[in-house]
Amino acid sequence: MSERKKISARKLVKMKGKDKIVMVTAYDYPSARAADEAGVDSILVGDSLAMVVYGMENTHNVPVELMEYHVRAVARADPVAHVVGDMPFMSYETSIRDAVLNAGRLVSAGADSVKLEGGSEYTDVVKAIVRAGIPVMGHIGLTPQKYLALGGYRKMGRKPSEADDILKDAEALAEAGAYSIVIEYTSAEVARKITERIPVPTICIGSGPYCDGQVLVFHDLLGFSPRDPPPFAKKYANIYGIVRDAISQYARDVRESKFPGPEHYFD
Ligand code: KIV
Repeated sequence: MSERKKISARKLVKMKGKDKIVMVTAYDYPSARAADEAGVDSILVGDSLAMVVYGMENTHNVPVELMEYHVRAVARADPVAHVVGDMPFMSYETSIRDAVLNAGRLVSAGADSVKLEGGSEYTDVVKAIVRAGIPVMGHIGLTPQKYLALGGYRKMGRKPSEADDILKDAEALAEAGAYSIVIEYTSAEVARKITERIPVPTICIGSGPYCDGQVLVFHDLLGFSPRDPPPFAKKYANIYGIVRDAISQYARDVRESKFPGPEHYFD
């Protein structure tokens, strides 16, 4: 059996134009182990945990400490997959110093690189983090941390001027040293143009098939939520139903004195 080697940011860059990059979010030890055993290239400890793990309405209440805890739990799975730590809301907007220190905290917790949302307005931040020796993944198109300014969670780049701005954002981030860029909820055409135009890999979520890779949120992919997934997600299982049914079977067994059975205790 061939040993899989830890996947670096450099390795992900080299995959552009050759192999599709497979990325999934994970937030804890078992989910990271399962994703790594499944052979994904990258695990994103995304701030989407605010919604899918903590049941919040948006990602505005995620302190860096919380991201550190989840990055630590994922890193304990010792994945071969490249671990990306998401920079949460207000961890990089306030100053370059804050951005570098907070990126450093995620790396100290076990991330192999960090991701931040935003375009050309953050090139100074990206440059400073890269200068500190931390690879940065960009995130453009729909940037959920900025939904108030964007006017909600909406399709991005439908107007030619907005599509043009997204393309310029991608070019500016790549120029600033981002090693890869997530493109969320733009038209497939916008994502295709960006993918052709920039030298680093693009990772799509809800932006069609032409990117260099894809990312999905763990709970959306597995159907592990009482909430509906976004329209662009594909549900590969219905884990929520399986979990609920297993727990109700357990409850029935306890109420009917069927659990514990003789094999579960000693006299
Ligand atoms: O937080 C997250 O999970 C993300 C993905 C949706 C790309 O940023």
